[in-house]
Amino acid sequence: MIPVLESIAEMAALARGWSRSGERIGFVPTMGALHEGHLSLVRAARERATKVVVSIFVNPLQFGKNEDFSRYPRDLDQDRALLSTVGCDAIFAARADEMYPPNFVTNVVNSKLSVRFEGKERPGHFDGVLTVVAKLFHIVGPDSAFFGQKDAQQALLIRSMVRDLHFPLEVVVCPILREPDGLAMSSRNVYLKGEDRIAARVLSRALFAARTAFARGESKRATLLAAARAELNAEQRASVDYLDLVDPETLEDLTVCTPRGLLLLAARVGGTRLLDNLILDESDR
Ligand code: PAJ
Repeated sequence: MIPVLESIAEMAALARGWSRSGERIGFVPTMGALHEGHLSLVRAARERATKVVVSIFVNPLQFGKNEDFSRYPRDLDQDRALLSTVGCDAIFAARADEMYPPNFVTNVVNSKLSVRFEGKERPGHFDGVLTVVAKLFHIVGPDSAFFGQKDAQQALLIRSMVRDLHFPLEVVVCPILREPDGLAMSSRNVYLKGEDRIAARVLSRALFAARTAFARGESKRATLLAAARAELNAEQRASVDYLDLVDPETLEDLTVCTPRGLLLLAARVGGTRLLDNLILDESDR
């Protein structure tokens, strides 16, 4: 059985011991409700590291007041069983009262890359993400940490934090894992029932429609976004929060997609908010 550590001191002591004896620690931060997307990060960590730590912590600091913190899916036993199939050396399941004691006041804020998209739709969300990830990095002290391109803006913010604050570790961003019908895997997909689950396919369909136009030689922002928008408009169950074509490093709008662009999409299907994105790259043409 994979050991589950709940205390910060125990986790830190285990990881420091490993580092002192020359182990390379790979770290995968998660909020649990694990799926193949998470497991792909653990597999990537296995390849680079000799010890793999997965944290499971539904971080209250990154949820807004009216968001799904209380109903977010939690199943530690199932997560532990899944992790034992891919190889994980320790699970860090921190307790919220130890992570955020009453005198907790310090946050990590990126006021540039977090103003648009998820940061705008979910005020304070990325402060919560960066703060918890910084804390986890200090506790675990990994040599490398693994994040999914599924949350493209989050991955960019974490890379910036690691660079700006000199965290001595490598950030590895892994590709999006999708269901066979194209839907990007997500812990929140369990909220999608019946017709909504079918309708949710429209997100990837819209991004792939833009990619088809791009592959034909189209590079103009308006044309690429119109190709995606046409798919989205045809699905009445979906309402778009944002759809944009941006520079993958700065998240600023692109008017032409050369040589690379990032399509970002967030939409609600039924009551569920879904994210997806796609990199368009001239070398893929
Ligand atoms: P969570 O949503 O559990 O995701 C944990 C990691 O899994 C993130 O890096 C996310 O991008 C990655 N991931 C999710 N779905 C994926 C998919 N379909 N393919 C590949 N990777 C995928 O993201 C968080 O938790 C939290 O914000 C966290 C970073 C743990 C901080 O609390």
